[in-house]
Amino acid sequence: MVLLAMTGRTEGWIAEPYGSDVSRIIQFAEIDWEQWISILLFNQAKRQQRTSSPLYSLFRALYHLMAVSTGYRMLSQWVSVNPGGDTLDKLVIEGGRPLSGSIRIHGAKNAALPIMAASLLADGEITLHNVPHLLDIEVMLYILERLGCTCRHEQGTVTINTSLVRSHDVPEDLMKQMRSSIFLMGPLLARFGRVSVYQPGGCAIGERKIDLHLRGLEALGAQIEEQDQQIICHGANLTGADIHLDFPSVGATENIMMAAVLAEGTTTIFNAAREPEIQDLQHFLNAMGARIMGAGTDTITINGVEKLQPCTYEIIPDRIVAGTVMIAAAATRGNVTLTHCNPAHLTSLIHVLKRTGVQITVCNDIMTVSCMTRPKSVDRIVTSPYPSFPTDLQSQIMVLLSLADGFSVMKETVFEGRFKHVDELNVMGADISVDLNAAFIRGVPRLYGATVEATDLRAGAALVIAGLAAQGKTIVEQVHHIDRGYDQIEKLFQSLGASVERQSTVSKQLDFAN
Ligand code: EPZ
Repeated sequence: MVLLAMTGRTEGWIAEPYGSDVSRIIQFAEIDWEQWISILLFNQAKRQQRTSSPLYSLFRALYHLMAVSTGYRMLSQWVSVNPGGDTLDKLVIEGGRPLSGSIRIHGAKNAALPIMAASLLADGEITLHNVPHLLDIEVMLYILERLGCTCRHEQGTVTINTSLVRSHDVPEDLMKQMRSSIFLMGPLLARFGRVSVYQPGGCAIGERKIDLHLRGLEALGAQIEEQDQQIICHGANLTGADIHLDFPSVGATENIMMAAVLAEGTTTIFNAAREPEIQDLQHFLNAMGARIMGAGTDTITINGVEKLQPCTYEIIPDRIVAGTVMIAAAATRGNVTLTHCNPAHLTSLIHVLKRTGVQITVCNDIMTVSCMTRPKSVDRIVTSPYPSFPTDLQSQIMVLLSLADGFSVMKETVFEGRFKHVDELNVMGADISVDLNAAFIRGVPRLYGATVEATDLRAGAALVIAGLAAQGKTIVEQVHHIDRGYDQIEKLFQSLGASVERQSTVSKQLDFAN
């Protein structure tokens, strides 16, 4: 305390102590003694866990006790100050090296998040394997703990005990931090007959409305009232219904599935989303005793059941992370093998990459991608719901097309604001122009290193690929966006021979898991 007072610095940064507990500066002016204790306990917990000391659970329990008594001040303060890791983190990339080697693909963020929310539908302990270490996962675990769950996340396994859940109000501060908290609406309504959430609001890539979610729950008999930004749903006796979605929304399909599993009678969702993550959610819910059919097609049927039982389940591989690595291998003229992936989930990307001249071999859950020559252009790619070309790989494939021999057109039909990476790529020497939802890409022989900024998760991943392919040094800023969907992306590409360093100016990224 005295040490901090003596520093007299006032910027308000939180730092993680290494070596002796107070080696790094924590600003006394910014935090009170409760938080000071919480940080000490939090770091002791991490240190004990790193040395897998038996004291870990003690410090973790003390930290949570402290966090509960201080009203979650530390994490909620951290999350509000740093929505994704440290906003000042940068990636420094020396480009021009062909990627090579083998990489294991981690579990899918967009499957794990709705499945973690769906665990609330059963009373007891759910175990999930192959869960990636990402900030969004940690925030979802944190929200579940705020609702009364007991959660652990170690070495890719998450356990969620829902027996003590009592709250069905999702706090506004956390809704704003992570849009996927909207997935809690269906399960909480189904289990408790009532839920309150907040409009998650838009993000860099678009308006992100939830009208289809609300209309689906209303069709099941929920009464919905909106007060300012708060949405309160009442539905003690949900009843099965036919629901026609105007657009095959992933989130709306998942929320309606989770609300309908305990409803009276049969629900049919027409024009449902068909993404592999929807199929994974059906398999998880059926493993808990639900009766759902049709996920993966545009018609899903849910026969309501009385009760669901906890289960143990393995999350599917992340097709978007796999796609990102495949495109990086092609853009750097490399030769990379991906393991623990599912090629069947990437048919549209494989098709496009082969048209650019990239060699791809598939054998069960292993894929090898190699590219020795300059890629060819592709006259037209249109993003659309699965199984068409995924919007979550649009920015990454645009990097490859910007280096291709010829002219390509990319049409984005899912999100209205998903071309923010174009200006950054043009700073690196690309030649791309945009008109409404179409991008016109004139291929150039090479890109050049520059300082660029990630504006959202996938745009950030695209800039990393551009930096790997570019001549010279690239600095990618606002890395916290990338941390939401890639587990330490610098380590992923270092393991394939790339020169990528993370520069953390103040603190280490928030990672509860390791
Ligand atoms: C999921 O978002 C994914 N997120 C997104 O991945 C992905 O881009 C998107 O599906 C499309 O594939 C998760 O699974 C956590 P939507 P979601 O509902 O559910 C409009 C990433 O990079 N819409 O299918 O929000 C909406 O505005 C993220 O990992 C309505 O108008 O997507 C959008 O334009 C980004 N009303 C379009 O539909 C609604 O009620 C697609 O949204 C719902 C959606």
